[in-house]
Amino acid sequence: MPDADTHNGESLLVVDDNQRNLQLLSAMLQHEGYTIHAAQDGHQALEMAASLIPSLILLDIMMPDLDGMEVCRRLKEAPETAHIPIIFLTARTDTESILEAFSRGGVDYVTKPFNRAELLARVRTQLELKRAHDTIRAISDERRELLHILCHDLTNSVGSIGAYCGHALKGEPERCRQTVGWIASAAANAQALINLVREMRNVEEYALRLDTLTLDAQVMQAVSMLQNRLDEKRIHPECRIPAGLKVLAEPVSLINSVLNNLITNAIKFSYPGSRLTLTAHSEGEWVVLEVEDQGIGIPAATLQKLMRLGEVTRRTGTAGERGTGFGVQLVRKFISAYGGRLAIESIAEGEEPEGQQSGTRITLFLRRG
Ligand SMILES: Nc1ncnc2c1ncn2[C@@H]1O[C@H](COP(=O)(O)OP(=O)(O)OP(=O)(O)O)[C@@H](O)[C@H]1O
Ligand SMILES: [Mg+2]
Repeated sequence: MPDADTHNGESLLVVDDNQRNLQLLSAMLQHEGYTIHAAQDGHQALEMAASLIPSLILLDIMMPDLDGMEVCRRLKEAPETAHIPIIFLTARTDTESILEAFSRGGVDYVTKPFNRAELLARVRTQLELKRAHDTIRAISDERRELLHILCHDLTNSVGSIGAYCGHALKGEPERCRQTVGWIASAAANAQALINLVREMRNVEEYALRLDTLTLDAQVMQAVSMLQNRLDEKRIHPECRIPAGLKVLAEPVSLINSVLNNLITNAIKFSYPGSRLTLTAHSEGEWVVLEVEDQGIGIPAATLQKLMRLGEVTRRTGTAGERGTGFGVQLVRKFISAYGGRLAIESIAEGEEPEGQQSGTRITLFLRRG
């Protein structure tokens, strides 16, 4: 008996120009509980594959106009359909055409006339392989993200430890105590970040422990960790955050990921001596924090990409600082884990409307603590 539950959510695209074959195949697979979509030619197959993203495609090789080999080539070329396994349907058993099918990216083939048991076994095997592959890919993406958080966000605390050590060595003995205090606080920050990442499997599913935090203290900590970078670019941030304004957030990620990434970007994409302001006010149940710079801004096309989750965009800073395009996506994930949201407005250098200056304003809406 078919067991529809075992194939829950698995849709297959069957492509054959022969109507009888198409019906036969569809009926066989439907009987097993798969959801079947049928296409009668190559063009229809390409359209349906792109819009439906099926779990697997059964693709006839010999079709008029656009044959199976060409359809396969185009599917493998497009990033959104490249990962869909394709089983070729062929009447030919000659080694050459089978080898060509594999070289085009097919994972298996079934010869006509179909043997029901064989066809189902091949479909099942490929779907199992795909599930295993998808799981491995998800785990590897999660690991990469955590590694990325460490590499990306530890840079600031480690960088400031190095810079403070330099100050301590050069400075007068009486100021040494204060500098060592800064070093200890940057080291504690780095350690807290390592502990947080150790506990997480991924950012989305990790239940962050939200606390009521005093925003100006958090911002001051983040700014002090970036003091060496600010000094390098001669940027003196103006912080206008009302004392005692409280937000609901997780402190380690707020300082090390959210604030650090936003301030780092503002520094990185500004010219030396540029203006940087951090202001906050409360608006009903929200605390609105704005980080505004007068840097090179974000071109309209990049801004559109940046608003889409999962899209990575990177750019070199005004002093050649390299990037990975990870910061803003991470900020967005943490902010949404706090129950808040983020907005980006920007005017790019070269795209300024009359009388306006380039620059970027990132607005965070954080829940009031
Ligand atoms: N304050 C800003 N001014 C100008 N452009 C910005 C600003 N913030 C972000 N961007 C744009 O958004 C892109 C994505 O930012 P994001 O922080 O994710 O990446 P990055 O800074 O390039 O690299 P990374 O942060 O991973 O080192 C940047 O490459 C840049 O084009
Ligand atoms: Mg960045």
